[in-house]
Amino acid sequence: MKACDEAASRIARATSVFVLTGAGMSSESGLPTFRGANGLWRTHRVEVLASEAGFADDPELVWSWYNERRAAHAAAEPNAGHLALAALERYVPSFTLATQNVDSLHLRAGSTNVLELHGHLREARCDRCGERRAITGPLASSEIAHACGGRLRPDIVWFGEALPAATWRAAAQASARADVVLVVGTSGVVEPAASLATRIPRADACVIEVNPDETVIAERADLVIREPAAVALPRLLETAGMRNGSSGAR
Ligand code: APR
Repeated sequence: MKACDEAASRIARATSVFVLTGAGMSSESGLPTFRGANGLWRTHRVEVLASEAGFADDPELVWSWYNERRAAHAAAEPNAGHLALAALERYVPSFTLATQNVDSLHLRAGSTNVLELHGHLREARCDRCGERRAITGPLASSEIAHACGGRLRPDIVWFGEALPAATWRAAAQASARADVVLVVGTSGVVEPAASLATRIPRADACVIEVNPDETVIAERADLVIREPAAVALPRLLETAGMRNGSSGAR
């Protein structure tokens, strides 16, 4: 049986689905990945832009980069892969989507049970008092300094920082109870997120990877679909007898 057919039949019978997504999920929405050709970490220095030290050195540079990214996210549209996952959520009794992406495209596609492991760009927070502020446009340099003496920073998990504890706990619990684990568009090189796809305690769980390229996840995957997300996910749904966009709740 072809991997896609077997994966679809597992999804059709699933009672609890856990999905982990990465930058490749949004590649067909026109957003760059991090480590692919022209990836963000090939053209930008991670330690300068995505670290506390980098922010301490040059907060304006960091904000100009996140302002650019936030504008690109706002201009992008969820793709057929995002929409298929939103539809899948309506079919499966227990569904959790954990994303490493900060682009909010899963939420814009209609997914509801979404855990943003690495944060998002809808808010900024003060690095001293923790106060939050909604971001609706580019943050000006004059807005970085906060009244308490701290500085507003993007609500993103930077390298060397811990993931939000409650979000991590919910993701770890959801991946532990899942009978189907769908891993889409991640290189699997960043921990602890990758462990949500590689350290699956349930012996009967089926790990399905969707990625056109080879990754370390493949070592743990039971089924591998080497196709882009916006192609593979709608077809998986269709082959599982589920329709994109319909309620179809069981
Ligand atoms: N469909 C599915 N997968 C794709 C597609 C596509 N259309 N295009 C590319 N990919 C795959 C690539 O082959 C690669 O394996 O997506 C993966 C993207 O990997 P990375 O660029 O490493 O991104 P990601 O895994 O999300 O990075 C993890 O690292 O830099 C940090 O915080 C950042 O959340 C990010 C984390």
